[in-house]
Amino acid sequence: MWFVPQTPTFVNSVNVGVYGINQFDTLKSYFDMLDYHKDYAYLNEIGSFIPSSLQHINTALEHIINVGMIDPTKLFLDAGCGDGRIVALTGGVHGIPSIGIEYDPLIFQQAKQHLKQWSNSHIKIVCGDFEKDATYHKIGVHFEEIATIFNYINNVTTIATKIARQSPIGTCFLLYDSRAIAQSFSELRLIENITLSDESGVGYLHVYKKQENSHILRV
Ligand SMILES: C[S@@+](CC[C@H](N)C(=O)[O-])C[C@H]1O[C@@H](n2cnc3c(N)ncnc32)[C@H](O)[C@@H]1O
Repeated sequence: MWFVPQTPTFVNSVNVGVYGINQFDTLKSYFDMLDYHKDYAYLNEIGSFIPSSLQHINTALEHIINVGMIDPTKLFLDAGCGDGRIVALTGGVHGIPSIGIEYDPLIFQQAKQHLKQWSNSHIKIVCGDFEKDATYHKIGVHFEEIATIFNYINNVTTIATKIARQSPIGTCFLLYDSRAIAQSFSELRLIENITLSDESGVGYLHVYKKQENSHILRV
């Protein structure tokens, strides 16, 4: 079933600030509290909603920004943004221009609510399918202009194939996974496999870059 994408949500309400001291801790406490009071993981029509560990993703993000693996001035996508916590982190704490796409309208509503509190002008979210170009157009974005794409184990092959087909060389794909062994994707080269471990458990961020297609002969 196709859900008609809703009016794009440009969240521009609360000034969380960027690069602020303790912004991350405050954000994490907010989502920790939600997770404590609610069983947040569930299956839906298109996949499964399980929130990422904000601690893991923040640690990985700081590392990949510091080593220059991603450009924080360029557009970031959370493909399947769930309740909006990753775009709140990238846009609200790190100041990266960020978009989130969520298929499930109920989870999307939750993301809207959370981002009213945690967002700033760096973030746009939309309800729709991340496979379809039309979803991006609703928020005035072309898929090809997105420099960094994040996914947490939902329709991974779909988004990896879209990157392989449409994204420019050098586009970064970040796959958060509970499995240590990284999958292989056509035209995406694994450049780093980051192990993330804390009291919440162990996770892995597999970092890929779109590479030149060696099968295409250029004349
Ligand atoms: C594992 S959750 C991760 C949520 C969030 N990215 C995070 O890391 O906390 C994956 C989300 O992707 C959504 N999803 C799966 N396939 C999708 C698609 N084709 N288009 C948009 N959203 C999708 C699911 O509804 C689910 O909410």
